[in-house]
Amino acid sequence: MKKLKDFIVNSRVWRSFFRHGWPDNPLDRSLIMTTNVFFHLHPVRVNKRSIKALYSFGLGVITTIMFVVLSITGILEMFYYVPSVDTAYFDIITLQTQVPFGQLLRNMHRWSAHLMVLTAVLHMVRVFYTGAYKRPREFNWVVGVVLLILTLGASFTGYLLPWDQLAFWAITVGTSVAGYEPMFGKLIQKLLLGGAEVGQASLTRFYGLHVMVIPGLLLLIISLHLWRVRKDGGLAANEVKDEIETEVENA
Ligand code: HEM
Repeated sequence: MKKLKDFIVNSRVWRSFFRHGWPDNPLDRSLIMTTNVFFHLHPVRVNKRSIKALYSFGLGVITTIMFVVLSITGILEMFYYVPSVDTAYFDIITLQTQVPFGQLLRNMHRWSAHLMVLTAVLHMVRVFYTGAYKRPREFNWVVGVVLLILTLGASFTGYLLPWDQLAFWAITVGTSVAGYEPMFGKLIQKLLLGGAEVGQASLTRFYGLHVMVIPGLLLLIISLHLWRVRKDGGLAANEVKDEIETEVENA
């Protein structure tokens, strides 16, 4: 058995996956934290206050999880949905009534979307309340504002896709409101609709924005946001010294 284990562990295939042996010393253990893309999010040492559930309420993490759920359920919905004014409405009805777990899939996508908007806003309120927008995190605050706009954009573009009365009139009203913006309103309205009123061109554009452009940008910018959290020294609470650290410094 040991021979087999040695053979596997020393093989080129194994070593191409795992470059180091077991982390059985402090240096290797901290290397795991600093070189692994998933663990890298957590600093090697953190202030106790920053990991208290009631400090961040985990709102940023919940928002990230909602994005992952939306991506997975959205890809599955794409298997059944064609963005055509002739079929879109019936595709959704078929998804809900004929496809196994179709209703669950649609509801998971819908509720996660509502929740993502809610938690992104609450996360912003939490960041403001704890003063985490201040130096050196002001850039990440701006990145966050872009994320919020993209999240709202994803919600808005998804609204048209069921192609029912609610969707049609909500987008008619929404794009008309955009049209009243004094400088670029009319241009934005025309670019979004692809014509004078909601029609096939609008559905194609909203679909493209909803399944490719906005999720792609969100993925890229959420990655930047999380990387900046790490580079800015973890959560702002880390800057408050632990009682024990203060005691050591004063001793
Ligand atoms: C798609 C939307 C967003 C996602 C997925 C997201 C994700 C996260 C995560 C996972 C964290 C670290 C843990 C936590 O604080 O819960 C974080 C921190 C942070 N976020 Fe967001 N965020 C989003 C939107 C925003 C918005 C709208 C703002 C503000 C305008 C913002 C500003 C910040 C700042 C400044 C930090 C550092 C907080 C600190 O040091 O205490 N984020 N974000």
